[in-house]
Amino acid sequence: MSKQIFIFDTTLRDGEQVPGCQLNIDEKVMIAKRLDELGVDIIEAGFPVSSPGDFKSVEAVSKVVQNATVCGLTRAVKNDIEVAAEALKHAKRPRIHTGIGSSDIHIKHKFNSNRDGILERAVDAVKYAKIFVEDVEFYAEDAGRADLEFLARLTEAVIKAGATVVNLPDTTGYLLPTVMYERISYLMNNVPNVDKAILSMHCHNDLGMATANTIAGVQAGARQVEVTINGIGERAGNTSLEEVAMTLKVHKELDCYTNIKSEMLYPLSKLVEDTMRMPVQSNKAIVGRNAFAHSSGIHQDGFLKNAENYEIMTPQSVGVDKSDIVLTARSGRHALRHRLAILGFNIAKNEADGIYNEFLELADRIKEVNDKDLVDLMKELVVEV
Ligand code: KIV
Ligand code: ZN
Repeated sequence: MSKQIFIFDTTLRDGEQVPGCQLNIDEKVMIAKRLDELGVDIIEAGFPVSSPGDFKSVEAVSKVVQNATVCGLTRAVKNDIEVAAEALKHAKRPRIHTGIGSSDIHIKHKFNSNRDGILERAVDAVKYAKIFVEDVEFYAEDAGRADLEFLARLTEAVIKAGATVVNLPDTTGYLLPTVMYERISYLMNNVPNVDKAILSMHCHNDLGMATANTIAGVQAGARQVEVTINGIGERAGNTSLEEVAMTLKVHKELDCYTNIKSEMLYPLSKLVEDTMRMPVQSNKAIVGRNAFAHSSGIHQDGFLKNAENYEIMTPQSVGVDKSDIVLTARSGRHALRHRLAILGFNIAKNEADGIYNEFLELADRIKEVNDKDLVDLMKELVVEV
């Protein structure tokens, strides 16, 4: 039976931590409303104790979101939890996301503690958060580098304390997908009460493997994925929402579904790009400028014969108008003829080679030939229109 994968969006929390990407309250509310329409299941709206502005944003987002759960981050600290509960009090479905470091590196160098001490603080934090809200997610920070047996003990203990979701972040973007699969499988098989909670993937992209690691975790049994629009986030970023949503949609054999309305992905990507002043790289999967652009002669010819030759999803399925054939010196005759026909130029057979050669000369000079350049060229050549 097809499994639902819950989409937890943290654009407004982990994404917004990026220098230069800070949003004001109105901008956060606008993005939260759009995420709600997109169909995300959980919106992490901020870290309420971190500043009065973040508190107010979480409060404002809580008031407007209609469908999604609204979540606030805390450390495993009583005051953080109280402040988060207050900020979330207007949310229809509030969630507190509390946690603590779980790797020996964090335990020693951040907390100057030991595994037992961390376990006790984790359990206390979950129990305390449960006083305020039913839905409590626990994060085991740096789980990617944590001792696996300890991680299993910690997971079991926080579930017993009432955690509804256990987040296992690869905080430093360190793991390989095969290792992520093995680690999540280990937890699925060795934590006795694992079926009482949902395991969540929260990956960072330091080695460019955030999406692959997230999907590996899903294959091993995780049911929630923590993502951001455009993969925005600390350092090399978080897992990108659009990449995970489309991977789960395109790969039917994974037998998973999400509530994401994929046609809204591109417009929302643009909104986040503009509002957060964080340009999306041209070759970014799904939403980059070139994601549906074909530029070499061989690809353009194959694409024009049948789009499926070079596209695994339609541009419309992610909200992009249409694919693009970019005319450059690498383009072939087929692409040129196709574009000229769209522009209303019917080329006689005996003129085709001459026009193609003129086009190549122009393309070598100006690199990318747009419609206006082509019309100007055709006027110069005085070809019948
Ligand atoms: O990357 C991380 O570990 C986090 C946690 C605070 C959830 O963002
Ligand atoms: Zn993170």
